[in-house]
Amino acid sequence: MSVDQRPEIENLLAEGRTFPPDPAFSAQANAQASIYDEAAGDPEGFWARIARETVIWREPFTTTLEWDLPFAKWFVGGKLNISENCVDRHVANGLGEKVAYHWIGEPGDKRTITYADLLREVSKAANALRELGINTGDRVAIYMPMIPELPIAMLACARIGAPHTVVFGGFSAEALSGRINDAEAKLVITADGGWRRGKAAALKPAVDEAVQSTPTIEHVLVVRRLGDAVESGTAMEDGRDVWWHDVVDRQSETCEPVALDSEHMLYLLYTSGTTAKPKGIMHTTAGYLVGTSYSHMQIFDVKPDDVYWCAADVGWVTGHSYIVYGPLANATTGVMYEGTPDTPAWDRWWQIIEDYKVNILYCAPTAIRAFMKQGDALPARHDLSSLRVLGSVGEPINPEAWLWYHEHIGGGKTPIVDTWWQTETGQILITPLPGVTTTKPGSATFPFPGIEADIVDGAGNSVPLGGGGYLVLKRPWPAMLRGIYGDPERYKETYWNRFPGMYFAGDGAKRDEDGYFWLLGRVDDVMNVAGHRLSTTEIESALVSHPVVAEAAVVGGPDPVTGEAINAFVILRLGNEPTKELGQALRDHVATKISPIAKPKSLMFVPDLPKTRSGKIMRRLLRDIAQGRSLGDTTTLADATVVETIRANTGAAEE
Ligand code: WT7
Repeated sequence: MSVDQRPEIENLLAEGRTFPPDPAFSAQANAQASIYDEAAGDPEGFWARIARETVIWREPFTTTLEWDLPFAKWFVGGKLNISENCVDRHVANGLGEKVAYHWIGEPGDKRTITYADLLREVSKAANALRELGINTGDRVAIYMPMIPELPIAMLACARIGAPHTVVFGGFSAEALSGRINDAEAKLVITADGGWRRGKAAALKPAVDEAVQSTPTIEHVLVVRRLGDAVESGTAMEDGRDVWWHDVVDRQSETCEPVALDSEHMLYLLYTSGTTAKPKGIMHTTAGYLVGTSYSHMQIFDVKPDDVYWCAADVGWVTGHSYIVYGPLANATTGVMYEGTPDTPAWDRWWQIIEDYKVNILYCAPTAIRAFMKQGDALPARHDLSSLRVLGSVGEPINPEAWLWYHEHIGGGKTPIVDTWWQTETGQILITPLPGVTTTKPGSATFPFPGIEADIVDGAGNSVPLGGGGYLVLKRPWPAMLRGIYGDPERYKETYWNRFPGMYFAGDGAKRDEDGYFWLLGRVDDVMNVAGHRLSTTEIESALVSHPVVAEAAVVGGPDPVTGEAINAFVILRLGNEPTKELGQALRDHVATKISPIAKPKSLMFVPDLPKTRSGKIMRRLLRDIAQGRSLGDTTTLADATVVETIRANTGAAEE
């Protein structure tokens, strides 16, 4: 084959194992196969039906979709309030005593928030926002640990139509001020701090630093979480800073939700692009509510008595859509945990599942691989039999990690939903439906009903089954981003110009002969080895399929012969020694498992990998390390010491 006839991305790894749904699960499942046909026949009619059936409207919508490519408006003419849909209606329906959140602080303190509690607290907080000068349309920044006041603050903003922008509590003062300035927020809601890895981690000092350079901020509203645990106390600036308990607690317990336009901006969430200026992804009200709540109900098979735990941080889109808005719209009982999975020990999550009899767990492959590294004994010590659905999100899940999750967490019986989506998409777009879809470990399977996804080559032509290329979406969906805040040109250029008429997600993907979608990582990470375009994902999965490996990352580096050479970084499961022989064996394992062209040129054993704070491997930094270059920007790294540890590490196996 000549180089130009070669595929956009090679299809190397074949995964043969399949998991058909258990008939007993299918019989009781929320999702039925018929929704695929209904949606395919008339996607707009499908979404319109769901919007009518699932949303409390103040005024009904008149047009389902206005599509002025690439600008979408959904449920045009409708009026609603999302906090009313997430809270008030459940209390009105007699569910006031139902638990909305079981909250667990890292030190072991607990709070139970019912829907009636939520209604009262959200109303009080909304009244407090008004007192602090926030009106409909004003933007509010939220920078908080994982405490109940975080969803309360979001819902309070939504109640009065003040778009929020949540900035993950692990981000720096600089990241916070950048986002505040882009959004021109008037208020920051924060806390004195939170508990993390057994320590009191102050948050307010970062806000103080950030607001030095944010002229639009008028007030800082501060929840007291740590209290006296803050070493030098929490400084409050007179006239600017106010304590939540001083202002919120004395408010009236009722606050009329404002009826807002379907397309009223609900929130901005900034994607932390590695080098470029963060993009303020805009989400609006009605379409987002419809997309998140319906997908949540179908994909997680949530039942009225279920306990559901999405273990992400509310600061990411996963938390916005599947801890706050989707689940609350469905009157779900959720778990919210403040701390890290290793505190006090690596079985904290399994203890929580046992204590609360959690039925549904949704988390990221990075967490699953970290648990895998710790071994099988910890989950085995706990009763995890309440689990009936498991979910994965954020990165491709390696088949081996999928199987470990299935066996050691799911007891070999629970369906796994590997859900592909993005901050921009707002809702899950590619996923199995539990009870309907036969799953294959490592595949996100098929587009959700009403979603048209395809894989195209460089010219935008659909790639036949069996081939790889670029993942695109060919029709609008309700929870899609409405643009980049203040920058419509960048919106067009980033997502819509590469393939005219299609949304380009930036991910590589392939489809197997049965039409299953397999995500292959960001296209920027694709390596070109001797004319073959290789995805990082498949080589990493081949490494993880070896029993000693917990996690792997591969990156390309310049090579005089092959153009690019593959450099691998490997984390071993506990109890295995890094040796030169093992390194060679792992390189050979990749060659036999997928192909000699994918054999890493070098392989380095590392104790950890550089990751973003949401757990994605930062391959850019690994490229720098592999090539001995000075490091670029490391401000979005979760743990900056990792890079130095890797650099200092020897134990590399090289050709
Ligand atoms: C990128 C979006 C969606 C919420 C969390 C991440 C990757 C996400 C999967 C999956 C393979 C996945 C993609 C995507 N990704 N889910 N199931 N399989 N890759 O949101 O930070 O906006 O990241 O995460 O590369 O484009 P995000």
